[in-house]
Amino acid sequence: MTDNDGARLPAGFVWGVATAAYQIEGAVAEGGRGPSIWDTFVRQPDAIFHGDDADRACDHYHRWESDLDLMAELGIPAYRLSLSWARLQPAGSGPLNPEGVEFYRTLIAGCRARGIEPYVTLYHWDLPQPLQDAGGWPDRATAQRFGEYAALVADELGDLAEYWITINEPWCAAFLGHAWGMQAPGHADETEAVRAAHHLLLAHGLALAGFRQRRPAAKVGITNIVSNLAPVTDSPADVRATATVDVRMNRLFLEPVYRGRYGAEVVAEFGGHGLTDDETGDGLVRPGDLALIAAPTDFVGINHYTNTRIQHDPAVAGGVRMIQVAPTPTTFGWSDTPDALREVLLRVARDYSPLPIYVTENGATFADYPTPDGEVRDPERVRYLAGYTAAVAEAVAAGADVRGYFAWSFLDNFEWSHGYSKRFGLVYVDYPSQRRIPKQSAYWYRDFIAHHRTGR
Ligand code: NOJ
Repeated sequence: MTDNDGARLPAGFVWGVATAAYQIEGAVAEGGRGPSIWDTFVRQPDAIFHGDDADRACDHYHRWESDLDLMAELGIPAYRLSLSWARLQPAGSGPLNPEGVEFYRTLIAGCRARGIEPYVTLYHWDLPQPLQDAGGWPDRATAQRFGEYAALVADELGDLAEYWITINEPWCAAFLGHAWGMQAPGHADETEAVRAAHHLLLAHGLALAGFRQRRPAAKVGITNIVSNLAPVTDSPADVRATATVDVRMNRLFLEPVYRGRYGAEVVAEFGGHGLTDDETGDGLVRPGDLALIAAPTDFVGINHYTNTRIQHDPAVAGGVRMIQVAPTPTTFGWSDTPDALREVLLRVARDYSPLPIYVTENGATFADYPTPDGEVRDPERVRYLAGYTAAVAEAVAAGADVRGYFAWSFLDNFEWSHGYSKRFGLVYVDYPSQRRIPKQSAYWYRDFIAHHRTGR
């Protein structure tokens, strides 16, 4: 065991692992599932590293029982999973697909049967393709469709889980998908991205309202990705560049949800794309939108991966260079600097919300491989997890009301545009055989959780 044995976390602190439907399920043409924007995107030339697709992924659709058995064997108390909208409602509107409902009812009940508490995400980026064809997230109607989908999910599955996350990382869905062209639908138009951002937030608000009405006991929140940002130097240009990145990546999403308005800085940055706090007429932000978006949630979901230093540099696109602090052997080049998570948690607690916070994702990639004796040794990930869980304890000690931590990810999986080249799992997946091999870090996490639960 490590130094964080001494970490003090509240009784009942939730330890879990996380995945997302498109990244693990496969079976994209089975069980009545329809195509999503990711099925389309992976087929675009050069969209995905090595031309990988997620048609099979971890084949979790067929292997979910043994996957949950493994999770239970590893003593994991909580599992954050996502529902595929395209599996549940292939057309993106109309009635739910009974086979999809049955799959998720059985899966979520299977968690409970094994003593694993499900945390269910309604949207982890896999928009039904018919909705994209009708305009996608830049179109306001998509938010309405999401509200209807969420209400149907509340009716059909809402009895099975207490914790619900409406939208995962709207920043990625909006900007990586619509401005940077790196994710589905692969567009490069900032106006589209800003419109998508507002509609994703509105979709959150509509889903929340639907759950409140149908499942008053449900605990509902939204998950945002929050990076730790600081200027490279204290020169005014670097400080200004940092503030701008913060507005674009963090504040655009945190201000409206937790403060009820976009605020002057966000509007100054994106007003040219129609974003405003005025709510007048039939513009992007319409009367009542901000109240819906800011309706109280039950918890704050935070995904955290990066610790970024910002440098003003007129020579690069956007005038901003983003540098990872202390690059480590993570194969993404992202930092292993746990203090960044502590700072993010303290900032969110201090500036945005006194609500319970859940770290709904945190993890790192390394060049994992099975040794000839069939083991996967990942001491780097053990060190990473030990450091970041200790940082959570420090944040709690400093006053942040953090209630849970979900390691990303349970399994190696389809890492979006990076295909299978990046391994985040606690469990190694040998894709050709679909064999699962718990990594050293999985056993470490098992022992760590057991220690925390029993205090021994
Ligand atoms: C956050 C996303 O929610 C998840 O899908 C992704 O795999 C991780 N980041 C790692 O990039």
